[in-house]
Amino acid sequence: MKDKYKIITHEHDVLVVGAGGAGLRATFGMVEKGLKTACISKVFPTRSHTVAAQGGISAALGNNGEDDWRWHMYDTVKGSDWLGDQDAIEYMCREAIPAVLELEHYGVPFSRNKDGKIYQRAFGGMTTHFGEGTAQRTCAAADVTGHAILHTLYQQSLKHHAEFFIEYIVIDLIMEAGTCRGVLAWCLEDGSLHVFKAHTTVLATGGYGRCFFSCTSAHTVTGDGSAMVLRAGLALQDMEFIQFHPTGIYGAGCLITEGVRGEGGYLTNSKGERFMETYAPHAKDLASRDVVSRAITMEVNAGRGVGAESDHAYLHIHHLDPAIIHERLPGITETARIFADVDVTQEPIPVIPTVHYNMGGIPTNYKAEVVTRQDGDPDKVVPGLMAIGETACVSVHGANRLGSNSLLDLVVFGRAAAIRCAELIKPGTPHKPLATDAYDKALARFDGIRFAKGSTPTANIRLQMQKTMQKHAAVFRTADLLAAGEQKIAQIRDSFHDVQLTDHSLIWNTDLVEALELTNLLDLSMVTMAAAANRTESRGGHARDDFPERDDENWLKHTLLWLENNHVQIDYRPVHMYTLTDEVDMIPPKKRVY
Ligand code: FUM
Repeated sequence: MKDKYKIITHEHDVLVVGAGGAGLRATFGMVEKGLKTACISKVFPTRSHTVAAQGGISAALGNNGEDDWRWHMYDTVKGSDWLGDQDAIEYMCREAIPAVLELEHYGVPFSRNKDGKIYQRAFGGMTTHFGEGTAQRTCAAADVTGHAILHTLYQQSLKHHAEFFIEYIVIDLIMEAGTCRGVLAWCLEDGSLHVFKAHTTVLATGGYGRCFFSCTSAHTVTGDGSAMVLRAGLALQDMEFIQFHPTGIYGAGCLITEGVRGEGGYLTNSKGERFMETYAPHAKDLASRDVVSRAITMEVNAGRGVGAESDHAYLHIHHLDPAIIHERLPGITETARIFADVDVTQEPIPVIPTVHYNMGGIPTNYKAEVVTRQDGDPDKVVPGLMAIGETACVSVHGANRLGSNSLLDLVVFGRAAAIRCAELIKPGTPHKPLATDAYDKALARFDGIRFAKGSTPTANIRLQMQKTMQKHAAVFRTADLLAAGEQKIAQIRDSFHDVQLTDHSLIWNTDLVEALELTNLLDLSMVTMAAAANRTESRGGHARDDFPERDDENWLKHTLLWLENNHVQIDYRPVHMYTLTDEVDMIPPKKRVY
């Protein structure tokens, strides 16, 4: 097989796979610390999905009202429905302040208050005094914060002379005796294959929203790193927890930022009622996303949806001063015009809960090191492998992520990965030779898909998968719905054996790219469906109609999932209920008050 392909070998101290917010922050952080680092990305860095983040990045700066990182930590633990690891949450909320000020110094063009400080808006679930008041904690660059941050991080990477391999598809991890030694990758531009050897490989490949039919994710969000980890025989964690953003544009799925409600926007049903007052009397439209998504779904199910098919809700901002809309919400004004034909200064936006974020992913500790359950140790570090950003499950979001904690997660743990690599790796340490068969399996898999001669187009299999996930792993779930979903997804995954590729070339073969991405999505759909069927309680983004209560006695634990011989194996890890310091005395789990 190797004779069939020309393979070029590279050696680096560190390899970062993915060039979104997490990948870029890690990449130049590594270079800054003297580590020879390559960043591999399947898209040009500024096209990474971070560019689509709108509302902002959380940090208790206190620019628009009093704030404290301990309140931020409390909100994040509570918002996670107690499934978040409290040591990691403490690290993230404390480090948020220096990390955001660092972004400001790097040049992120944040919106400003009159006194020149970074403008901060209210977001769901963000409170002061441990749940008493509303915090304005989300630092915003109008409603294009991800765009502003991603471009700045890319500029910093260029300034640090980081080495990029752009439009390279990583085929698989190279693992030897449980240690990650690098990756095998394919260059789209000239069709060459590459072995990248590294002392540490950092996966920053994003989520897997494209398993679903309606999502806010870019088409490139196909869970590549997470699926590689499954293929390497390692576990993923908490895959049952999928976040539906309450306000995707009806029909198109594009995001309308929660910042809209932070600026005073509100939701109504077909009777014109502001229904969030009933579901969350205290937080109302700024309740956390799981709560608002369920509320919209319940209104629709009760026959109070809007539109010709009574199947969505309205989001209003036309009561706001047009000057404020123009200054703070220009992005969604344009999105609503293009995708819903709505002038937001005059009419409401039609919205529906849409898949937005994966709380689950590759389990890591707060230093970004991948962990697994092994030999009785639930926190066993996998040598040579790190994960950051949405592909990782640190777990700072637990069962439900608070809005604006995602951009924060990217920069804090991108930075943490660089700090840890500098502790672990001496720059220039020589590489041991790889075993002769180190990447034979990965190459054979690639070649097999490239020359697949079945009869079913990739797009057909993908559509069936997306429709099945949308219907069977929805906002509300039941045992029957999930059991049928598990069966269907297994069949659809099996049908990939009959996939048909018409292009067998190696240069810019998008047919092959889509087929490789689909294999990743299919594996992730399998473990997601199994995890959702397995967890017989409701917590955060996982709402079981047949088990409506949270069950701490049996389920205050992380799910671990392996995919072995087409079967999903399940085990558990304990939640870290301890903090790093004793500065915050977290109260034990109790019922949430909205
Ligand atoms: O609504 C939003 O702007 C999304 C933010 C987030 O997911 O953190």
